[in-house]
Amino acid sequence: MCGIVGYTGSRDAVDVLLSGLQKLEYRGYDSAGIAVMKDAGIELRRSVGKLNNLTMEILKRPLSAHTGIGHTRWATHGRPSEQNAHPHMEGGVAVVHNGIIENYLVLKDELKASGAVFKSETDTEILSHLIQRATAEGLCLADAVRSAVKRIKGTFALLALSEKEPGTIIGARLECPMIVGVGENETIISSDIPAILDVTRKAIFLHDGDIVSITGGEVEITDFEGHAVDRKETNINWSPVMAEKGGYRHFMLKEIFEQPRAVTDTFRGQVLEEKGEVFFDGFDIDLSSVKRIYIIACGTSWHAALTGKYIFEDFCSIPTEVDLASEFRYRNPLVGESTLVIAISQSGETADTLAAVKEAKRKGATVISICNVMESSLTRETDWTFMTHAGPEIGVASTKAFTTQLTALYLLALYFGQTLGTLDAGRIKELIQELIKIPKKIETILDSADYIEALARRYFHYRDFIYIGRGINFPIALEGALKLKEISYIHAEGYAAGEMKHGPIALIDEEMPVVAIAPRDATYPKMLGNMEEVHARLGSIIAVVSEGDTEASTRADDLITIPVTSVYLTPILVTVPLQVLAYHIAVQKGTDVAQPRNLAKSVTVE
Ligand code: M6R
Repeated sequence: MCGIVGYTGSRDAVDVLLSGLQKLEYRGYDSAGIAVMKDAGIELRRSVGKLNNLTMEILKRPLSAHTGIGHTRWATHGRPSEQNAHPHMEGGVAVVHNGIIENYLVLKDELKASGAVFKSETDTEILSHLIQRATAEGLCLADAVRSAVKRIKGTFALLALSEKEPGTIIGARLECPMIVGVGENETIISSDIPAILDVTRKAIFLHDGDIVSITGGEVEITDFEGHAVDRKETNINWSPVMAEKGGYRHFMLKEIFEQPRAVTDTFRGQVLEEKGEVFFDGFDIDLSSVKRIYIIACGTSWHAALTGKYIFEDFCSIPTEVDLASEFRYRNPLVGESTLVIAISQSGETADTLAAVKEAKRKGATVISICNVMESSLTRETDWTFMTHAGPEIGVASTKAFTTQLTALYLLALYFGQTLGTLDAGRIKELIQELIKIPKKIETILDSADYIEALARRYFHYRDFIYIGRGINFPIALEGALKLKEISYIHAEGYAAGEMKHGPIALIDEEMPVVAIAPRDATYPKMLGNMEEVHARLGSIIAVVSEGDTEASTRADDLITIPVTSVYLTPILVTVPLQVLAYHIAVQKGTDVAQPRNLAKSVTVE
């Protein structure tokens, strides 16, 4: 985790760094800091807590410069404190770092033995010492960084600044993202795209093992051995406005409301409605040799993966397993050349997912991905990528990325069914038409956001919640519960409704609201039975049902209705009101929706 940003050019670097850090704050927010190059040397400002504290600190002790680096932290080694905040300075060298240095204790002992004095508990401080020593021995900053990264084991995106080379910033990356934004006589470097958009839309995505040197508008990339490396420049089609809140109180709410657009953009160009066909550009994997599918992901993306199992098995008759990426890599999954692995990740930078992908490739599997960030590590690791078009997702709680992942899985399964002949043409056409209607149906649900907000006012004081669903909507019960717990800190569990009687039902009493997902599908009568069981034990029920439902109201205390659609698309529609409910419950509770405690958006460490 952590966000890093660096700038060199004619603008005020302090403004650029603060604005960049603000866009990266979703990556961590327990402390922040900047280091800028002044005539008299490097000046540092650091502050514990949110970025706002750093801004206040800079207002108290103003600063301006044309070159500088900044950092927003999600603590791994060393508690959140000013001392542990980055940048770390040592004798005229300042360093910011995202990642983990695994051998830092060994190096720390070695450095201490030769006289180094450490001021923080972080692993990063090793880097400032190593780089400073190398520059003191006469190496230029780029070579000093090169020598330091060769000594460390672990993962990093780092930036270094040295008083000996005032207008230059050196960056290095290994398994953590780093993007260079190329402007006119200016360059910005950052962990993620939104932070560069105010300066430029021309980007170079660095690869593992790259070392970059930026001075004004000059960019030079080499490898760890010092050989020149050529990386292509890409035009980013995200606008700065897409990365702004646009009048909404929180990014999460904005992103919930963007879903009709995000889902449309995700299927646009992939379906030929008239012909009733799904079309994928550049997909040349031989599906006839695929005997098993594995879908791997973490968190919300894993919930999307779980729905994928239902769709792939029904549409293409291929046995489909779903695994948490963090589990997959530490067991011995039965993966081989006839296995197709689908990795799902919004960011494309989740460490567990990337490691699982590498493991699957090592075992000979073909690996494709579903991802929202172009040129991210995942898209580079995998044989083919379905790009979702959610646009930048800044909210820590994933919303539009999830519904676009569901859309992507649906399209992939349709395409597989079409290619393998397991779905007939008429059925494909019907399923495409249903998908095309989904954005309008999401809009209808969003029209009832005020009603859901009123529900939130009635339910926000409960301490626990249970979410139940069956079949393809069981994963949505898990997702609904995750949304609630991550932003409101209310304890919430998702269960397959049929499991209630095997234990969880013991929890039901008047203090336990139950969110029952019960659209009209084959499991509907069973869901009514589950609602009866809760009702009989005095639990309150909020039921999510299909429009026109008359039966559920006799068991439920409150109803949320969704438009009728194909069962395979109900997860998208059910998800939306659950996001709105979680959001408003959190707002009622007064928790920090933008920066939920202990979380970071992109988990680039194990
Ligand atoms: O970027 P990814 O999709 O790989 O992220 C996976 C999870 O870290 C992420 O979904 C997380 O669970 C979110 N906080 C969910 O809202």
